[in-house]
Amino acid sequence: MILNRRHLLQTAAAALLMPRVASAGFAPLNARVTKHPIAPASYPETAVWTYGGSVPGVELRVRQGDRIQRTLMNQLPQATSVHWHGIRIENAMDGVPGLTQDAVETGASFDYSFVVPDAGTYWYHAHNQSMEQVARGLYGPLIVEETAAPDVDQDLVLMLDDWRLDPETAQITDDFDNGHDLSHAGRLGNIITVNGSLDPRVQARRNDRLRLRLINASNARIFDLNLDGLSGWIVALDGMPLETPIPLSGAFPIAPAQRIDLVVDVVAGGDTASLVSVERDGAFGIVRFDVDEPLAPAPRQGVSALPPNPLPVIEDVSSAPLHRMSLQGGAMRWLDSARIGDTELSGQELAQLGRFWALNGYAERPTDPFLDARTGGLHRIEFVNETVFPHAMHLHGHHFRLIQPDGSLGPWRDTVLVDRGQTRQIALVADNPGDWLLHCHMLGHAASGMMSWFRVT
Ligand code: C2O
Ligand code: CU
Repeated sequence: MILNRRHLLQTAAAALLMPRVASAGFAPLNARVTKHPIAPASYPETAVWTYGGSVPGVELRVRQGDRIQRTLMNQLPQATSVHWHGIRIENAMDGVPGLTQDAVETGASFDYSFVVPDAGTYWYHAHNQSMEQVARGLYGPLIVEETAAPDVDQDLVLMLDDWRLDPETAQITDDFDNGHDLSHAGRLGNIITVNGSLDPRVQARRNDRLRLRLINASNARIFDLNLDGLSGWIVALDGMPLETPIPLSGAFPIAPAQRIDLVVDVVAGGDTASLVSVERDGAFGIVRFDVDEPLAPAPRQGVSALPPNPLPVIEDVSSAPLHRMSLQGGAMRWLDSARIGDTELSGQELAQLGRFWALNGYAERPTDPFLDARTGGLHRIEFVNETVFPHAMHLHGHHFRLIQPDGSLGPWRDTVLVDRGQTRQIALVADNPGDWLLHCHMLGHAASGMMSWFRVT
């Protein structure tokens, strides 16, 4: 148990307010080992770790403002926890061992209970030894429906993953501490699945309008996606509606942990359409849409924005304090030295500990927060990527607005891709009290140094 005064007060208050919210009433969320066919049928099934026995884990679908109550039952051979990625919830439910709760040991359970304030596309995943546990399959979609849902024929969740399987046994390789992966782009896989399937198919009719909820659950892969035979708009990023939907034209990136909601019309000339992953050696269909002739009328015209979520107002950020965070280390920019706690270690000593990256000179979550904010304060963070790799920087408990290079305010996100050598500013209202992580969502990078936190009181 991590005890501090705030925690004791919270626990005491919770006990007073909710005398008998016992675990018995919550639906179980079983984290357990199972088998799933990931590789082609000629291969054995793959042993995976799942929520509820499926890949992806059981889809949680609720309405905006609902309360989610789930008891995590840990039937895995490792301690675990659940993080509700992108959901702006109370700190005690955020699922971060060592910061907001203890890791849940094998055979033990934990009651998660929180209200979801925002509609949109979110996800949940393991947050203990995440680099290993997410790679083994511990993730699932969390969909919060708008009170007035957009007019579409199908609402499809498409959860992308990138698995590293042994080419003979089709089992997940357990080289999670591979120093080359950690110090380069992270753990890239050799099999891409959507919704746990190598060859997913969707039935659609010409002129159908589809909502595609794309979620990138992979450890490290940044996908460049494109559409073939489908045309439409980006309507939301990381769950949050765009004020003005962006018409799709050409490929668009989705970094680990990011979500993109599309509204597309089936315009295929032939009998298939596809979602395509653009890679160095070609473009590969990762979802196939089998298109029937229309029973349906002509395509709809235009699209309207999704209803806004109750986000704080951010307008003028020019006088907000600016906090600089340098992203450091990795191959070809090896750390000379960095700190773990109060100890300054050489790059060589750090490498022996499997630490290759640092945030502002720390190769592990520091004792003091990167930012100590008063509730309601407006802040800017500037990510300065001094490395030669891209990083997907994620803040817990908050969404933020991107500040565009010309100073104007961009879309809301919870994870921002900072390219090699790039500097990106974000603005956030620190309106959610608690201790929150801030880390790279390339999970190997987080495990090997890119981990920080901020405090809101
Ligand atoms: Cu997807 Cu620390 O989170
Ligand atoms: Cu990174």
